[in-house]
Amino acid sequence: MSDSADTRPDSADRAFRTEPVSFTRRGGRLNPRQQKAWDLLAKRIVLEVPQDGPSTSVHPAHRFDVATEFGRTAPLVVEIGSGRGEVIVHAASQSPGTDFLGLEVYVPGVAQTLIGVRHGELTNLRMAVVNAAEALTTMIPEASVDELWVHFPDPWHKKKHHKRRLVTPEFAALAARVLRPGGVWRMATDWAEYATQMAEVVAGSPDFAGGRSDRWDGRPLTRFEAKGIDAGREIHDLTAVRLG
Ligand SMILES: C[S@@+](CC[C@H](N)C(=O)[O-])C[C@H]1O[C@@H](n2cnc3c(N)ncnc32)[C@H](O)[C@@H]1O
Repeated sequence: MSDSADTRPDSADRAFRTEPVSFTRRGGRLNPRQQKAWDLLAKRIVLEVPQDGPSTSVHPAHRFDVATEFGRTAPLVVEIGSGRGEVIVHAASQSPGTDFLGLEVYVPGVAQTLIGVRHGELTNLRMAVVNAAEALTTMIPEASVDELWVHFPDPWHKKKHHKRRLVTPEFAALAARVLRPGGVWRMATDWAEYATQMAEVVAGSPDFAGGRSDRWDGRPLTRFEAKGIDAGREIHDLTAVRLG
């Protein structure tokens, strides 16, 4: 993984972010199974990403070299906020000819994903403990991604927190940056009003065509989705295609 020396004068001082992020850093201990999977696999599966000050930040000079990392050229799927890895592990085991990258700031979730990697003996999945917005800005090469998945992003339902939501017009521009023309952006949420925001973001973007869609059958039910259903919430899926 290459990265060059930082030449920006203020980089060393950037201990805190000034812009809102879509997550609260949730630490937490790894359980013994997670710890074992982490010890066995993290070195191979979890990318080493140089930071730009705060933890989970991405140094802007760092680039993800997809072909070198996977040792081949294959379609690439990126999942943002992969949680416990239920979807990405399932997909990677179903599609050995495709490469998968999960971006998740919650370390126990990443460790849980490694348990799935271990059981499935998966070679086509990597994880990065990074703020996805930063990864999409610089780390992931332009037009390198075939599918981008954002399933059940944190809803930030209070109005004063809406600025922390991941899916915004600014984020659509980042999604457009990494997706190749014809690439697919999939979203799902159990928060009706966030689904409306997502649909508006897609409709307002010059780079995408799409909107609300049927449930995508490549998406197994996750714990998080099941909780939403148990609480009586409707699930909303959206699909958009990168124009160009
Ligand atoms: C509500 S959970 C959903 C998890 C999973 N997609 C599912 O459906 O079960 C949202 C996840 O997104 C992660 N997340 C939120 N913002 C993120 C960001 N900017 N970069 C990476 N992960 C993020 C959180 O840590 C959390 O695990």
